[in-house]
Amino acid sequence: MSNFNLKIEKKIAILEFDQPDSKVNVLNTQVMQELASIIEELAKKSCSQEVKALLITSKKDNVFIAGADIKEIENITSSQEAKEKAESGKRILNNLAGLNLITVAVIDGACLGGGFELALACKYRVASFNDKVRIGLPEVNLGIIPGFGGTQRLPRLVGLTKALVMILSGQMIPGKVALRYGVVDKLFPQVRLIDDSLDFVNSLLEGKIKINKKKKKFFQKFLEDTHLGRLIVFSQTKEKILKKTKGFYPAPLKAIELIKRTYRGNIRKGFFLESEAFSKLAVTEVSKNLIKVFYLYEEFKKYPWVDSKIKPGPINKCGVLGAGVMGGGIAQLISCRDIPVRLKDINYRALQTAFRTAAGLFAYAQRKRKFKPHQVTYKFGLISPTTTYRGFENSDIVIEAVVEDLGIKQKVFKELSQVVSAKTILASNTSALPITKMAQVTNSADRVVGLHFFNPVHRMPLVEVIKSPETSEQTLAGAIAFARSLGKVVIVVKDVPGFLINRILLSYLNEAGFLVEEGIKIEHIDRIALKFGMPMGPMELIDEVGIDVGHKVAKILEEAYGSRMQVSRLLDKVKEKGLLGKKAKLGFYIHKKKKKIPNPDIYKLIESFPKKSISDDIAFKRMIYVMINEAARCLEERVVDNPQTIDIGMIMGTGFPPHRAGLLRYADTLGIDNIVKELEVLEQKFKTLRFKPCNYLLDMQKRKDKFYH
Ligand SMILES: NC(=O)c1ccc[n+]([C@@H]2O[C@H](COP(=O)([O-])OP(=O)(O)OC[C@H]3O[C@@H](n4cnc5c(N)ncnc54)[C@H](O)[C@@H]3O)[C@@H](O)[C@H]2O)c1
Repeated sequence: MSNFNLKIEKKIAILEFDQPDSKVNVLNTQVMQELASIIEELAKKSCSQEVKALLITSKKDNVFIAGADIKEIENITSSQEAKEKAESGKRILNNLAGLNLITVAVIDGACLGGGFELALACKYRVASFNDKVRIGLPEVNLGIIPGFGGTQRLPRLVGLTKALVMILSGQMIPGKVALRYGVVDKLFPQVRLIDDSLDFVNSLLEGKIKINKKKKKFFQKFLEDTHLGRLIVFSQTKEKILKKTKGFYPAPLKAIELIKRTYRGNIRKGFFLESEAFSKLAVTEVSKNLIKVFYLYEEFKKYPWVDSKIKPGPINKCGVLGAGVMGGGIAQLISCRDIPVRLKDINYRALQTAFRTAAGLFAYAQRKRKFKPHQVTYKFGLISPTTTYRGFENSDIVIEAVVEDLGIKQKVFKELSQVVSAKTILASNTSALPITKMAQVTNSADRVVGLHFFNPVHRMPLVEVIKSPETSEQTLAGAIAFARSLGKVVIVVKDVPGFLINRILLSYLNEAGFLVEEGIKIEHIDRIALKFGMPMGPMELIDEVGIDVGHKVAKILEEAYGSRMQVSRLLDKVKEKGLLGKKAKLGFYIHKKKKKIPNPDIYKLIESFPKKSISDDIAFKRMIYVMINEAARCLEERVVDNPQTIDIGMIMGTGFPPHRAGLLRYADTLGIDNIVKELEVLEQKFKTLRFKPCNYLLDMQKRKDKFYH
């Protein structure tokens, strides 16, 4: 047996899972076969009374079982194959569940997906107080549902409402929550986990303790145990899911349908229907794409941007310049990670607003039980406001987030380089201005780097790290490690106007502006983008970012790239009119509380412009193809080296729909030849460089190439 080690002492078997040459344990075909024969052996031993109990543990640090092997799920090519896999896994876990033994899963770390389903097939589950304990069924994130019985056993164990939340959100709960939910029966100190688990088993064997199912409170009883209650639960859950996924993700809907059909019925039938549902989902394009995105995400969490020999220095204290939307958000995020941060602005009111916003975020985190009240007090206290550079001298990194104006930024960088220590990393959060130009005015350009957070800082998972030709590898390593320590995914990009993400995104926003100029309604443009799966439409996004900010960035790009990035006259006019977007409640939309209605005044600004008849299909192609073209240009200019960086950047930085697997993966599905031909038609028709296919795409077309092989 290469994956398991079975020890039997005093009639208690301990099965240790320790997958060779791997940091984690996963359930693959070979592991499941081994497990099947161990269960068979234990079944015999239980008959002969040689064994009375079984503990299943892991030898890995902080991992019980990370889940089923995703490679195997990815390689499934037919529904039949998927069904056989689910059925065979379920058979083995059913045999585990049927053992005439006291069975206990002993969890000390990640217990996810198939791993949790294995634990659910045990009669009891215990976990350690280890912070790394995370228990859940994240299958929906891969476009599938649990296939080894999880959709049947979990609702029967913890009740309908909690199980639905766990299965539909892919939520991974810590040990204490698992105890409260009744997912685990006991928590033990990590150092005594095995000893205490053995005592637990002995007490069960001796009949000294009895574990009862958690009693349902009155309202939970009504919701789960009455026909009317269940009707309410299922219809409200479905409504919530549809609102969140906009119907693009079939897995959560299938899970609801399945659980609705099987919740109080015969579990065998439930298992059968679960395999059926799993088999349909595992072969969908959505699932295959989500798996690709999962791999991308995992790859970029630790992508080796710099030589591993270069060790980043510690970051014990930070400075942030500018307490606006971004600076305030960055300071709050830093304090969340228990790092003291000095926040400077020239304007007291900005500091006040930043503190109010941070207080709101902390209050929310406390409500969601992410932080306890004393943690909030401590973390909030780590942000100290100032209008001078006092306290900046011992910062390990300073992030500049003042207004998007090169002159002001250069002034600030010059001042900074005279105040801080020689080792301090100087970072700019600029959206589009050249880092090189800011570095020039400092006394050491090698420690200047771009650190481009996205708005809202606490929610957007991406940070673009911008490397100027002068940025040292040491500075780069420090900036990357810092951004990762804040929980962000990092991409490193070349110092060109707009860097990577804004450069691509602006071509799309601009095109949307041209389409409105030509007569398409604001809300209709947004609907076209939403239909594709964008989290919000382009016009709504400009309002969200701020028309002043968006226009400034658009102008920087127009100046840098010429007529190809010409700003739409609509955006110019809206800016001239002084509309700011959502922050002033007036932009392309009139924003009222949670509602927004298109602003009729916008159309007056473009009344005199000639109108055209444009189909939805053409409008959509114009917006998406200009992005693909710009992305290809970025590869041509080596802004980044590979399509993966663009795809992860667009998903994490702009919310490009993950079920499309990324902008360039999507381009591959369209076919480069088709894209080039369509761009050429548009170029002919509109006589503009905006649609001229770049050389990179033309070469790909000639070679019949794809972005991904
Ligand atoms: N808003 C976004 O969506 C977004 C996203 C990513 C990056 N950015 C970039 O982040 C930077 C800040 O943007 P923002 O939206 O937070 O702007 P903002 O206007 O909300 O805040 C800028 C703050 O800088 C302060 N300031 C001006 N000069 C200063 C000085 N010399 N010293 C200290 N503070 C000074 C202002 O008082 C203001 O409070 C810009 O470079 C912007 O391009 C913005």
